[in-house]
Amino acid sequence: MAGKTSTRILVWDVPVRLFHWTLALLLVVSYFTARAGGDWMKLHFWSGYAILTLLFFRIAWGFLGSTTARFSSFLKGPSAALAHLGHLLGRGRPRDAGHNPLGGAMVVVLILAVLAQAATGLFAADTDMGMVNGPLALKVADKWVERATDFHSFWINVLLILTGLHVLAVLFYLVWKRQNLIGAMFTGRKPADDVVEPGAATPKLVFVSNRLAISLLLVSAALVYFIVRAGG
Ligand code: HEM
Repeated sequence: MAGKTSTRILVWDVPVRLFHWTLALLLVVSYFTARAGGDWMKLHFWSGYAILTLLFFRIAWGFLGSTTARFSSFLKGPSAALAHLGHLLGRGRPRDAGHNPLGGAMVVVLILAVLAQAATGLFAADTDMGMVNGPLALKVADKWVERATDFHSFWINVLLILTGLHVLAVLFYLVWKRQNLIGAMFTGRKPADDVVEPGAATPKLVFVSNRLAISLLLVSAALVYFIVRAGG
């Protein structure tokens, strides 16, 4: 029995783990460089381009990547998400190889929210800070630059709230359900008891090669390069 509970199952591949912690780090970099302004804006831009690259990669990986990375494995619709919420608030132990249906919906919201932040940054401009223009700001009409700038300044607050909720959710699991999802995002492994009912067969998870991940990352970086270059 002791052996059974200590078995750990690989659920997250390396690309998902690297994506996650690099994204979290770059959001911190982007936030503080924007607050510092001045010369720090150069780093802010590079950080934004890196975030866009990561997001393009993660969206592609959501279709072509390992089982638990695929959107189809964790986007189960509102009724599954609500059913999970009920389960969560009760005494039951949630068991999921990857994201649960509620967490999965939140993942997509987070990805789209960060995408909106990074994409509007491309068109934003800040004349107060000495003509700091996003690379595409000169390609669109002033009214769109104004809208993108307002959205970019406002949306960071929404992103902070969503990220706060996200971290609270994983802390809830840690404290209430005694499930360490954070550790699993580092090691890739979850205790078997957090994945399947005792005695049940372990799910068949397919892990796609890291080579494909690197190729997709390079294609994503090239895409961002061409978008930025389009600004001239
Ligand atoms: C200290 C801060 C953070 C912690 C402790 C944390 C923890 C986690 C954990 C444990 C998961 C896996 C959840 C599950 O098992 O279903 C996860 C997934 C995720 N988190 Fe975070 N997170 C943090 C910051 C962030 C930030 C800043 C963002 C960006 C807004 C973010 C975006 C995501 C996304 C998109 C996923 C899905 C990963 C994937 O499937 O590729 N996280 N996070």
